Amino acid sequence: MSAAELEATATAMVAKGKGILAIDESTPTIKKRFDTINLESNVENRRAYRDLLITNPGGNEFISGMILYDETLRQSCSDGTPFVQALVDQGILPGIKVDTGAKAFALHTGEKITEGLDGLRDRLAEYKTLGAKFAKWRAVISIGENIPSHACIEANVHALARYAGLCQETGIVPMVEPEVLMDADNTIERCYEVTEMTLSALFKALDSQDITLAHVILKTNMVIAGKQCPIQADVQEVADQTVRCLLNNVPAELPGIVFLSGGQRAELATAHLNTMNANNPDLPWPLSFSYGRALQETCLNAWGGKKDNLAVAQNALLHREKCNSLACRGAYNPDMETLSGNA
Ligand code: 13P
Repeated sequence: MSAAELEATATAMVAKGKGILAIDESTPTIKKRFDTINLESNVENRRAYRDLLITNPGGNEFISGMILYDETLRQSCSDGTPFVQALVDQGILPGIKVDTGAKAFALHTGEKITEGLDGLRDRLAEYKTLGAKFAKWRAVISIGENIPSHACIEANVHALARYAGLCQETGIVPMVEPEVLMDADNTIERCYEVTEMTLSALFKALDSQDITLAHVILKTNMVIAGKQCPIQADVQEVADQTVRCLLNNVPAELPGIVFLSGGQRAELATAHLNTMNANNPDLPWPLSFSYGRALQETCLNAWGGKKDNLAVAQNALLHREKCNSLACRGAYNPDMETLSGNA
C-alpha cells in the first residue's frame, strides 16, 4: 500500500460527521457484556450479535469504520457474506484490534502493560490479506496513589510506537489508544495532568521511532473526573479541559482524533463531544467518536439475545450513531434523546 492509500484510509476514518464503532471486545469482555442480558457467550451468539451491528441498515451514513476482534474478522453474516465484505459493501472500513491485552506490569503493583508485539508483523500481514485497513492497540494507564509511574507510561508508549511502525510498514493505519482510566476517585485536574504526561510521552515515542503522524489516528480518553470523585465537572468543563489538553499535546499534522467512552453514560459522552465541536470550530484535527459501550449499550439491552428484537435493537444503535454524528458537527441537542428509537 502506498503512502497515498494510508493517507486516504486515515482521512476516511475521520470523514466529516462520521465516527468509528468499536465492536472489538475480546472473548472475556463480550462475555461480561452478555452476562448483563443473561446470554451465553458462545460462538454463534457472538456472531449473531456482531451480525446485527455490522448489517444495521443506514449505519454507514454515520459510521466510517468498525474495529473487529480476531474471531469476528473471520465470521460471516447469516446469509453467508463474510463480515469484512459486508462492511466493504457499505463503504465502511474494517479495522482489527491487534493487542493481546493489558497484563500486570512487573514490579509495579496496580499498573498494566499491553502485550502483543511478538509475532505482530506476521499477524498484521494476515489481517491485511483478510481486508483490515486499520488496527487498534490499547494501552491502559491507571490513576492512583503514586501511579502512574514514569516507567509504566514509558513502557506503554514505547509499545504503542513499535506497533504503529509495524502497522505502517504493512500498509495498515495504526489507531493508537492510550487510555487513562476514569474508574478511580481522582479530580479532573489530575486526569488532565496524567493525560498530558501520557500524550506528550506518546508523541515523543512516535517521533523517535519515525512514525508518520499523517498516517496515525489517535484514540484517547476525554479529560474527566474519576467516577468515584465526589466533584464531577460539568459538560462545559470536560469539553474545555479536553480540548486544551489536546491542543497542548497533539501535533497538528495528525489527521484526526477519536474518543473512547470509557464508562461514561452514553448521552453524556455525546454531549461532551458535541460541546467540544460546537465551541471549537477551527481545531487542527477533526474530533470524532470511537465508542464501544456508549454506542452499543442501548442496542444490546434492546436485543437481549432474541431474534424478534432485531429491528428495535438496530434502531437503538442507529439513534446513538446519529446523535454522535451530529455531535461531530456540534449540532446535537439533548432533546433528540426523547425521540429515542426514532432514528
Ligand atoms: P468504550 O467506548 O466502551 O470505552 O470502548 C472503546 C474501546 O475501544 C476501548 O478500547
